[in-house]
Amino acid sequence: MKVLVTGSNGLLGQKLTDLYRTKADVELIATARGEDRYAHKTGYIFETLDITEQAQVVAVLTKHKPDVVINTAAMTNVDVCESDYEGCDALNVDAVNYLVTTCNAIGAHLVHISTDFIFDGTHGPVLENEEPKPLSYYGLSKLKAENIIQNQSINWCILRTVLVYGVVSDMSRSNIVLWAKNNLEQGKNLNVVGDQFRTPTLAEDLAQGCFLAASQKAKGIFNISGSDFMSVFDLVYRVASFWKLDKSLLNLSTSEGIKQPAKRPPITGFIIDKAKNQLGYQPHSFEDGLALINQQLLGNK
Ligand SMILES: NC(=O)c1ccc[n+]([C@@H]2O[C@H](COP(=O)([O-])OP(=O)(O)OC[C@H]3O[C@@H](n4cnc5c(N)ncnc54)[C@H](OP(=O)(O)O)[C@@H]3O)[C@@H](O)[C@H]2O)c1
Repeated sequence: MKVLVTGSNGLLGQKLTDLYRTKADVELIATARGEDRYAHKTGYIFETLDITEQAQVVAVLTKHKPDVVINTAAMTNVDVCESDYEGCDALNVDAVNYLVTTCNAIGAHLVHISTDFIFDGTHGPVLENEEPKPLSYYGLSKLKAENIIQNQSINWCILRTVLVYGVVSDMSRSNIVLWAKNNLEQGKNLNVVGDQFRTPTLAEDLAQGCFLAASQKAKGIFNISGSDFMSVFDLVYRVASFWKLDKSLLNLSTSEGIKQPAKRPPITGFIIDKAKNQLGYQPHSFEDGLALINQQLLGNK
């Protein structure tokens, strides 16, 4: 099987490279805009691919004719999307259209990653058939992409995920676990919201979800997240407990108290039974996820 990954320098992209490059029966084509930033340069082919350039999408996909394309590339900074509608649409919507059209032309199966931010967050955890109602431009852009994919005749699956955490080398951006750990280690006070609830997702688990969906050429929408439902404050508290950091630095705050350009849905989180039953997906517990990161930071894994 040939698998092409977009956005291979990102958190999920690097975890997919970790996973696929050691699989003897899979040929991995890792693609990213610019240089390859993955640490170990063996076991896969690398191609530069900016997915907002339709000609590049057509050229690279037609050259390699993958069986499956996993689209991890996106404008993922929710607040940047709120101030750059054009850039957000170019990457999160138009580029998905190019991928869909080209997958259609070469007969590839598209695995696309979406988000809990397509929901308004009045309640949770939610199932796959929950009615979308985005509060932010990022959420709207990801919903537009979902609609483009679902209205096409290609084979597709959409994997929706929640608050992804993990560690890779040369990261595009940080995530909640590393942010909390690093700041608490430096003795900084942190204002953390107690009124947003999530099922945080270990990046390895999301990569495993992509692998299972790609291997089975799964069709439809799947929730792929962790199974532990918690407030963001609870999450950070558990990070502090795990690394034995000073919890008195944590100030319980509200979404109203922390001014952010883009609105966040208060309560999301996913029910993941469909992925467990149909794909065989089994995520780590949150504390097991932290233990894995700890090993990686110590250089043991
Ligand atoms: N992270 C979360 O909490 C979260 C939650 C829900 C859903 N998701 C979804 O999960 C997916 C993976 O997210 P992630 O956490 O791995 O994000 P990430 O670490 O920000 O990775 C996104 C990657 O996309 C790349 N990219 C940006 N513009 C590109 C372009 N024009 N062409 C090709 N690649 C481009 C970025 O490249 P550079 O490295 O050069 O910037 C980056 O490596 C995304 O679809 C995201 O919407 C993420």
